[in-house]
Amino acid sequence: MKKITVFASGNGSNFQAIVDAIEKGDLDAEIATLVTDKPDCFAVERAKNHNIPVFSIVPKHYATKEEYEKEIAFYLIEKNVSLVVLAGYMRLIGSVLLTAFPNRIINIHPALLPAFPGKNGILQAYQYGVKIFGVTVHYVDAGIDTGKIIEQECFKAEGMETLSEIEEKIHAIEYRLYWRVIKDIL
Ligand code: GRF
Repeated sequence: MKKITVFASGNGSNFQAIVDAIEKGDLDAEIATLVTDKPDCFAVERAKNHNIPVFSIVPKHYATKEEYEKEIAFYLIEKNVSLVVLAGYMRLIGSVLLTAFPNRIINIHPALLPAFPGKNGILQAYQYGVKIFGVTVHYVDAGIDTGKIIEQECFKAEGMETLSEIEEKIHAIEYRLYWRVIKDIL
């Protein structure tokens, strides 16, 4: 069975959706470890609830980003991880991890890239007043949400007035889209 890792810094609802897909038998993969830069984040609780190992690693404990990423890379290589899945990991991936996992790091973004990259993609799109919202899954490169697009799904915001209605719909798309893309790649 292929081994993957999920990187998260926050709530971890996308991580949870991947865990659920595996537990239901929809996705044939093993999450070798959750990697987090925020040891107290809720994603860690979720991992513990499902007996998934957690690799907590705090960047400020390392002199450089390279040293921080080397520690992660060694761990993941030792665990035989073949795909790195970012799910709300709030840091830019640097050269060490990009070199260790070429074309093997993916991310999910809650907007239709190349529009509204970076933080708060949903809010940015909402405030701009777009009529079509969506989700993008892409390979990760050195830029902010600039890597090659793998998959996108969109919807028209007809009848949806509030930001929270849009957010809910976007997250629902994320939860059913991400594991399918992971399955295709594996
Ligand atoms: C998701 O909307 C994802 O698209 C973005 O960050 C959010 C993470 O949410 N990259 P969660 O931590 O998975 O709940």
